[in-house]
Amino acid sequence: MIAQRKDDHVRLAVEQQQQHSGRNQFDEVAFVHHALAGLDRAEVGLGTAFAGISWQVPLYINAMTGGSERTGLINRDLAIAARETGVALASGSMSAYFKDPDCADTFSVLRKENPGGFVIANVNATASVDKASRAVDLLQADALQIHVNTVQETVMPEGDRSFSSWAPRIGEIAAGVDVPVIVKEVGFGLSRETVRRLEGLGVRVADLGGRGGTDFARIENGRRRLGDYAYLTDWGQSTAACLLDAQEAGLPVLASGGVRHPLDVARALALGASGVGVSGTFLRTLLDDGVSALIERITVWLDQLTALLTMLGARTPAELTHCDLLIRGELRDFCADRGID
Ligand code: FNR
Repeated sequence: MIAQRKDDHVRLAVEQQQQHSGRNQFDEVAFVHHALAGLDRAEVGLGTAFAGISWQVPLYINAMTGGSERTGLINRDLAIAARETGVALASGSMSAYFKDPDCADTFSVLRKENPGGFVIANVNATASVDKASRAVDLLQADALQIHVNTVQETVMPEGDRSFSSWAPRIGEIAAGVDVPVIVKEVGFGLSRETVRRLEGLGVRVADLGGRGGTDFARIENGRRRLGDYAYLTDWGQSTAACLLDAQEAGLPVLASGGVRHPLDVARALALGASGVGVSGTFLRTLLDDGVSALIERITVWLDQLTALLTMLGARTPAELTHCDLLIRGELRDFCADRGID
């Protein structure tokens, strides 16, 4: 059943990419153009460092899959793309591995094809410390993501309905594994209150995982036979809103959810992200056009990101936070409602 769900998620996520309107709240963030701000390209580097982690580029392929034969092949290709471009790479949820150790290869391929890369294991917030450690060991992972997804579980026909143990369990895992723990949403966003709570639980990094891209309420609605939750479509805060909200929250943040092109990456970095994650957009490229096309696409993104930093006068991704930004429309209203200057 899990293997079938994993295949459904891939199919429905790619269908959603094809139907997406193309617009999201990143469009309400603009750089003020300063015509003389530019640097020389040789002065610009893409390295980023946060919570004791160093990446050569501030981009990563975020958690997607594993657990079935087909998704094992997808993971193999994602690992090859990560190896060839130097981006970090997260596994999909490793629950399937705990239930059926025979599918271990569909996850461990992430490390096998990418021995020198930064690989992130992924578990849910009910995993025991022992399971979380096994997930890290299987991938020889450099960090562990714990995904929090109450909206998805609620809409998922076979989903979890008990959430109160999640926060204490996150604290136990953070204390019990020996790699940095990243807590991530799957597309509904982390509020600043949640980020502060995570800090208190010993979590090192928050992946804000906001609205604007892959929508798991829609995906799970697509898997329901009866009584869908169509009204939960568009639930949550956009990634841009989460970045603004979390500015004073105290943890390093990663941004993911609805990242469509290198300008969105630059916008997220300018709003304070230490790194930017992409799932749906890259999955679609891989499935439509193959692994070479994905490698080419990521290479072009990194090249264009360097070009944008050069034009904007930022020597590093972190220096983008000094750029002047304009916040418009509903995002501006969000800032007013949340008391953000
Ligand atoms: C996901 N995502 C996800 N996240 C997670 O923590 N564990 C998981 O197993 C999965 N599975 C998964 C499957 C598929 C097919 C997709 C497309 C996505 C969520 C993902 O990491 C990310 O948070 C969201 O997809 C939002 O980012 P994008 O797609 O808008 O870039």
